Amino acid sequence: MAEENIHKGLAGVVVDTTSISKVVQETNSLTYRGYPVQELAASRSFEEVAYLIWNGELPSEEQLREFTARERSQRQVDPRVIELILGLPKDAHPMQVLRTAVSYLGAADPKAEEDGTEANQAKAERLLAQIPTLVAVDHRRRHGLEPIAPDSELGFSANFFQMTFGEVPEDEVVRAFDISMILYAEHSFNASTFTARVITSTLSDLYSAVTGAIGALKGPLHGGANEAVMAMLEEVKTADRAAEWLDEALSSKKKIMGFGHRVYKNGDSRVPTMRAAFEKMAAVKGADDLLALYNAFEKDFVDRKGIYPNLDYPSGPAYHLMGFDTEAFTPIFVMARITGWTAHIMEQQASNALIRPLSAYNGEDQRQVPSKD
Ligand code: SDX
Repeated sequence: MAEENIHKGLAGVVVDTTSISKVVQETNSLTYRGYPVQELAASRSFEEVAYLIWNGELPSEEQLREFTARERSQRQVDPRVIELILGLPKDAHPMQVLRTAVSYLGAADPKAEEDGTEANQAKAERLLAQIPTLVAVDHRRRHGLEPIAPDSELGFSANFFQMTFGEVPEDEVVRAFDISMILYAEHSFNASTFTARVITSTLSDLYSAVTGAIGALKGPLHGGANEAVMAMLEEVKTADRAAEWLDEALSSKKKIMGFGHRVYKNGDSRVPTMRAAFEKMAAVKGADDLLALYNAFEKDFVDRKGIYPNLDYPSGPAYHLMGFDTEAFTPIFVMARITGWTAHIMEQQASNALIRPLSAYNGEDQRQVPSKD
């Protein structure tokens, strides 16, 4: 095969259709089932958007009532999973813990191998309800605290704060978190979603596909970037040190976390909405210095390289101000992206073809095995 036919990283390659979301590079826009994401973030809850991503339509009041009742009724996880998490090494990364716990949920689900949209929708909704509980249990154990049971009186985001910190913060903090869930929920054939589709294309089960997707999202070139952004800003420390830090980083060819994107080349359509949520958090928490560092660093890097922030750049410091541990930022990303992953899993199942690309061989020419004697 000629070299020019090779598309490393599948850059620019269209491999299938999807009706779930549309990422428009030219206009830096993103729509979920035809609705612009910034409009959804401005007026809807994450629960409504999760319903939309799965069902293709926004829920009626009755549909939303039934959907949220199902979600709230499934938040409690199998006690054996809590034992599993509590028994894992304290220094295991939260994404390793979450990957292990989700895999266990699959092994313990007697219907794990059941096929069909109804069975898979039920598994997807169960994971939506239970992943926050898993993330919160892991947080509590790292802080030497007992797990806090889910509260079915609270909405998705408020319940996560309650399970993690034992209290629900100001409304604007909960709203900022809910907006981040909406923005993180879905993004077409990103690396972790495509991983889920590859696994699904072999007719493997939903839990295997989600476990693989968690592994893909963990990497710092993908979901792990939001954790890396906060670690980077903490290393830079203050706005007046941004230039010097960037001099050093760029001279050693470092990738600057939270910037650049395979599809968006003129800026990530989700950033303005998440930036506004971060600025609101900074105002609520009086974090003027972090906001100044955030703005100075971004301006300097964009001026130098013309590479723009992606969603992970504002979401990292926003989660930091909400009080979450930096290592928990990517598991929080999973709490949202489970909707996109499982929607794509069901879409792949509905019109499947085994995903198996070609490779161009560039090794030794064929040769004979030398005789031993
Ligand atoms: C997410 O795909 C999705 O939709 C993902 C996501 C989603 O919602 O699922 O949007 C979530 O993963 C966002 C991306 C998070 N990752 C990071 O922030 C890590 C830092 N970003 C880079 O590693 C990079 O921008 C990628 C990996 C995101 C995209 O890289 P590409 O498309 O493969 O582009 P590239 O690496 O080939 O870069 C082109 C040029 C290179 O320069 P040259 O080697 O050609 O001289 O731009 C440079 C790169 O070095 N470049 C960067 C850079 N991003 C691109 N240089 C420094 N820092 C960066 N961040």
